[in-house]
Amino acid sequence: MGRKIVITGAAGFIGSQLAWELHSKGNEVVLIDDLSFGYESNLLVDNKPFGRFVKKDVREPDLHEEFKGADCVFHLAAISALPVNQSEPARAISINVAGTANVLEAARREGVRRVVFAGTSAIYENNAKFPCHEDDPVSPRLTYSLSKWQAEKLCESFSKIYGMEIAVTRYYNVYGPHQDIRRKSPPFVGYVVRELLNNRAPVLHSNGEQRRDYVFLRDVNRINIACMTEDSAKGEVFNVASGKAYSVNEMYDCIAKIVGTNIKPVFVPAARFWDQYPDLFQGNNPMDPHILEKEVEKFTLGATEKAERLLGWKAETPLEDGLRETVEYTRRLLANG
Ligand SMILES: NC(=O)c1ccc[n+]([C@@H]2O[C@H](COP(=O)([O-])OP(=O)(O)OC[C@H]3O[C@@H](n4cnc5c(N)ncnc54)[C@H](O)[C@@H]3O)[C@@H](O)[C@H]2O)c1
Repeated sequence: MGRKIVITGAAGFIGSQLAWELHSKGNEVVLIDDLSFGYESNLLVDNKPFGRFVKKDVREPDLHEEFKGADCVFHLAAISALPVNQSEPARAISINVAGTANVLEAARREGVRRVVFAGTSAIYENNAKFPCHEDDPVSPRLTYSLSKWQAEKLCESFSKIYGMEIAVTRYYNVYGPHQDIRRKSPPFVGYVVRELLNNRAPVLHSNGEQRRDYVFLRDVNRINIACMTEDSAKGEVFNVASGKAYSVNEMYDCIAKIVGTNIKPVFVPAARFWDQYPDLFQGNNPMDPHILEKEVEKFTLGATEKAERLLGWKAETPLEDGLRETVEYTRRLLANG
């Protein structure tokens, strides 16, 4: 291919693997991350760095310097952890929304051909009709989903006002190697894999029946690349979903079988999920635990027809294969300390 491609949030879970894939295909990749949540070690393969890493905050005024001559910018940098967004709303809006404005403005100024923005299925948090379609009305209220929705609207604004080529991907629950298992509240799959490999019983904030749409990292990056290359992606929004919802129990049993353990999980009330963020439940206007309960227990399922119709994309990795790869990666990570 041989394009110059910029990836923001490149030291994170999805960005690092997208960057590696684009680098492996012969592109020049510029890897922007401020390392607030990502790891430089995600940008090593066989202990060697690839691409050009630039430690930078996406809100910096000189960001556009890195965009000179770029064919495509993938904008993935964000605070992605829900409780961090909720407990630091001003920082979340500054990075997720103002940061996106800065990325779009830098891309506009430097004439970048295509921008691909990482949105989220979390914006459907109050929708009750399933599967959710890209043009369904949404009314997100939690800080994370609201900030990503506002960022999406900025993409629409730049696309309409300046005629820029922008595609938006709304990821469902992405799982796979390099998911961050070191943070306070790791994502569900990474957390269960980590605990089981350490011979500990995972504590699950669920009754086990809650169902969500999970999509494997490699499938996600296939649609990311299609959003860069295909004309039909211009100005469009795509659900990045498998179109299959699995329960916590089903996911757990599959992971436990791959790990080879009989350890049973400990179920605790969903409302206690953010116990590690006590500030949210204190003060004069504490958060209503029922809102959290609703968020943790919510059902998700994405409609996949649009991505298939316009991009010929659909999630292909069988759940068990994706989970096996995730377990093998985590096993190696833990073995290497
Ligand atoms: N993982 C999922 O299931 C999922 C689902 C829906 C949407 N998303 C979105 O996809 C994107 C990538 O998600 P991820 O799971 O790889 O998250 P991640 O937290 O692993 O990666 C995000 C990266 O952005 C970086 N970053 C944060 N603030 C920055 C700033 N101001 N300047 C530069 N870099 C900054 C972090 O250091 C981190 O490396 C995010 O935008 C997230 O909202 C992810």
